Amino acid sequence: MTDTPAEPTSKPFSGSTSKPWEHAKQGPGSASDELATRFVQSLSHDRRLYKQDIAGSLAHARMLQKVGLLTAQELQRIEQGLAQIQAEIEASAGEFGAAWPGWKPELEDVHMCLEAALIERIGEPGRKLHTGRSRNDQVALDLKLWIEEADAQLRQRFDALFRAFVGLARRDGLIVMPSYTHLQRAQPIVVGGELIAWLAAFDRAQHRLAALRTVNRHNPLGSGAIAGTSLPLDRHHTAAALGIGPPTPSSIDATASRDAAIDFVYALAMIAMTLSRWAEQWIVYASTEFGFISLDPRYTTGSSMMPQKSNPDVLELIRGRCGAVYGHLVALLTICKGLPIGYNRDLQEDKRHVFEAFDRVAECLDMAAMVVATTRFVEDKINQGLSDGFLDATCLAEYLVSKAVPFRTAHQVVGSLVLQCQKQGRPELSRLTVDEINSACAGAGIDGRPCGPDVYEWLGPRNVVRRYVSYGNAGVRGFQEQLEAWEKRLSGV
Ligand code: ARG
Repeated sequence: MTDTPAEPTSKPFSGSTSKPWEHAKQGPGSASDELATRFVQSLSHDRRLYKQDIAGSLAHARMLQKVGLLTAQELQRIEQGLAQIQAEIEASAGEFGAAWPGWKPELEDVHMCLEAALIERIGEPGRKLHTGRSRNDQVALDLKLWIEEADAQLRQRFDALFRAFVGLARRDGLIVMPSYTHLQRAQPIVVGGELIAWLAAFDRAQHRLAALRTVNRHNPLGSGAIAGTSLPLDRHHTAAALGIGPPTPSSIDATASRDAAIDFVYALAMIAMTLSRWAEQWIVYASTEFGFISLDPRYTTGSSMMPQKSNPDVLELIRGRCGAVYGHLVALLTICKGLPIGYNRDLQEDKRHVFEAFDRVAECLDMAAMVVATTRFVEDKINQGLSDGFLDATCLAEYLVSKAVPFRTAHQVVGSLVLQCQKQGRPELSRLTVDEINSACAGAGIDGRPCGPDVYEWLGPRNVVRRYVSYGNAGVRGFQEQLEAWEKRLSGV
């Protein structure tokens, strides 16, 4: 195609209640009924996609020019028109430029509003933009581009959360505390060992987000409504320009599937689940009974009736908001269940769930970073109960193993020593004498006297946390090794 405009011109759309794409329909259509207009529109949600929609349109227009379906002048007008529209939206008040006059619910969605506004501003060339594409491939693309951006925003939030955990670990990490299985006292650890556990879980949650995105790295633009087009589109060109992956290999699947949205929300649900578990743990730790942590008063609230209260409401809300995120995941899965392979309008319902799930998780991550950054572990209170619960029992068994006693026998010996202490009201294994330990060994049929005075280096929580040597342990060595790795990572070394 050349730059000489010898083509026929057409009448621009001027109706305000009918839709420019419904000429072949009998009757006035849904736009003439207020309730139907409201019911059919997705503009109230998908305005949020305007930037992505414009980016997709620019890539599409540049490709149309390259293959000769637009002239260079037409492309230039389209580029200018879209830039002007984007600037106008960005200058408009309200969320996602809500006050922009181009948002017309009777035009249904962001795609039609932007196209109508373009035609209004630049006339005829604007009417060529939709060549070889459909809202079906447009919306699939927009959502993928949006997820890319949302993911980048989540990465920043994770970064803040990681920094907060590392800061707390650096400060309070060496405090010795009990660990719990079945919420019963288990083995001694250091606070940092548990903080590293949360870091590991959140790190995995972040990687899951990235990993699931790689499954969906194909670009649907140019798939059209369902079957592709007889026009010579160069989909590889648009895909390269947008940089989210090669063109989708099936125009039908590309417009019919929402796997990218579901995978994204699943990854969000896993983040929400991890946040909820962490919040629960700290709610327990903040109770008077535990008193392991003190929360910053900014993140607790009082009671309207009980004057003494300071409740961990922020943590409770983080725990509770997880429910809605699961709800959005189930909603998406259910919307897609039973859909024939081709675009169905049910798919329009996807975005509100994607956006809502993202907003909830994003605000919870922000809040979590603030809570972590301002929480302190209360060493005195943790110390008070540290000698309860025979936390060093496993280490005593391991001491005997180091003296060639089989582990199962050592387990039996220590079990009998714990019973003996409990019966005699002695709260700590470190109060046993070497003779008492050796006679328990003899009772289990062990020859010789495996226990010597060095046993006391293996007893008491403070000794135990220094003895762990296995990679990834929650004692001093494991914690310090992981902390160092996190510090390196966060300083970008
Ligand atoms: N607004 C729709 C959505 O969000 C895209 C429009 C597709 N409409 C159609 N009639 N094919 O999915």
